Amino acid sequence: MAYTIKPIEPNDRDWVLEVIRGWGADFIVSRGRKIYAADLPGFIARSVEGAPVGLVTYEIVGDQCEIVTLDAFEKFQGIGTDLTAHVKKAALAAGCRRLWLITTNDNLDAIRHYQRRGFTIAAVHVNALAHSRELKPSISEIGSYNIPLRDEIEFEMPL
Ligand SMILES: CC(C)(COP(=O)(O)OP(=O)(O)OC[C@H]1O[C@@H](n2cnc3c(N)ncnc32)[C@H](O)[C@@H]1OP(=O)(O)O)[C@@H](O)C(=O)NCCC(=O)NCCS
Repeated sequence: MAYTIKPIEPNDRDWVLEVIRGWGADFIVSRGRKIYAADLPGFIARSVEGAPVGLVTYEIVGDQCEIVTLDAFEKFQGIGTDLTAHVKKAALAAGCRRLWLITTNDNLDAIRHYQRRGFTIAAVHVNALAHSRELKPSISEIGSYNIPLRDEIEFEMPL
């Protein structure tokens, strides 16, 4: 599938917010912190017809860059890989020394994806979702593949 990747622009913001809301609220919870991902920098992948087929948002704090959300709406086409590579490039250009992210124990596609793209597990935050649910009650008890949703897995890649 052919697509192009461009940075998020101001007139993309309403659409980005819709995607973020697809995860249950206007914000994402990572490491016990609400992150309003629709306000962050990121990249959108679009098909040749102009339809969005992927979105990544990221946040740079000091010399660390967190991938906050990553969505490939068409899976196994290379979109997730390309979006991740774009964030890595932006992080390097900003002088970051570490690229990291949080995913959850049920997200087998993401766990596969990040390990195949060179990330390693930096930590497993056992039962972290209990605290996340206090901030975001819409987080369900059961995740993908009917796996109980309870732990945060922190992946990292030194830059
Ligand atoms: C995790 C996620 C982003 C991965 O994105 P993806 O676009 O499906 O991943 P990619 O296509 O880049 O890579 C998947 C595989 O497809 C293969 N692939 C790449 N281009 C391809 C092509 N043109 N045709 C067929 N396969 C291809 C890749 O080789 C890769 O295989 P590998 O990992 O064994 O090397 C995606 O599953 C997703 O959006 N999940 C839901 C949202 C989510 O959970 N996000 C993560 C939150 S932390």
